Amino acid sequence: MTVLVTGGAGFVGSHFARLAVESGRRVVVLDDFSGGTRPRLPDAVKIVEGDIADRALVTQLLRDHGITAVAHFAGKIQVGESVQKPALYFERNVIRSLALLDVIREHAPITFLFSSTAAVYGTPERTPIDEDSRLAPISPYGATKLAIEQALEAYGIAYGIRWAALRYFNAAGAHPDGTLRENHEPETHLIPLVIDAALGRRPPLTVFGDDYATADGTCIRDYVHVNDLARAHLAAIDALDAGRPVGIVNLASGRGFSVREVLDEAGRVLGTPVPHTMGPRRAGDPAILLASCSRAADVLGWRTERSDLTSILADAAGSRR
Ligand code: UFG
Repeated sequence: MTVLVTGGAGFVGSHFARLAVESGRRVVVLDDFSGGTRPRLPDAVKIVEGDIADRALVTQLLRDHGITAVAHFAGKIQVGESVQKPALYFERNVIRSLALLDVIREHAPITFLFSSTAAVYGTPERTPIDEDSRLAPISPYGATKLAIEQALEAYGIAYGIRWAALRYFNAAGAHPDGTLRENHEPETHLIPLVIDAALGRRPPLTVFGDDYATADGTCIRDYVHVNDLARAHLAAIDALDAGRPVGIVNLASGRGFSVREVLDEAGRVLGTPVPHTMGPRRAGDPAILLASCSRAADVLGWRTERSDLTSILADAAGSRR
């Protein structure tokens, strides 16, 4: 059983590629390395540099490696950048994903996992957010992810693609052995910025607003460990291969922490306070993003194992020392 992992050099993709190899699958990574440096993946992972929209290349990979599942992580992920450069996001995340799906549908049945996001919900009407909540993305990034989810709904019916769209909340942490890490360029996510600020590698963190309607005034997010995300993808492949439909599933811990709580816990884990200053709100940040994860438990039998805030921070810190 061979899995093609697009974007396997990226944060979640690299953790999944490693776990898939460790679980006995053969893994081929397809990545254009536009997102940064090459991760330290096991030698058993075959790495191909190329474009997901290169139909000849993808066709050849599917044939030559007997690929039965595709885990599609490749894509642009920055909310703010997507507002500035929507054409780039629609081209990379929609047009190129549809080109990939065109090849895949010719080779059906193939199991297809799609890396989606809580950004499809926009500013939620209610908390916790379940999969039936209103879909109203407030950024081009969220809109591009929703477009591919909608394509999958239709393609599943028309072309027999077995699919899962996994909506991540705040992916964080790192492999506990420190070999893989969150490595976005530029980095905009809270936890790596907090750790680098504490280690003196970046200026003090700016907290984006402390006047939200939360207990301490800072935004609440639902952080989920990247290895737990990787495990959920393996569970989704197993479910789909066993003929069980998966569809859309939230992946999160179901617990929320404010920015201030993250700073406090990071200070405890690192043994040094995190230098920070208060700043204005960042446009587009909802006060609270908190998931209901019961569908993941029901459909995938998935529960988080390492998504407590202490483990997330300790593993992220271990990967950045
Ligand atoms: N934050 C700061 N200072 C920083 C960086 C972040 O205070 O320097 C705050 C943000 O305002 C937010 C929290 O930390 O309240 C988390 O911010 P991140 O940038 O780490 O993550 P987001 O919640 O903005 O983004 C996540 C996912 C996206 C998804 C989005 C949906 O990473 O993929 O939720 O809103 F699209």
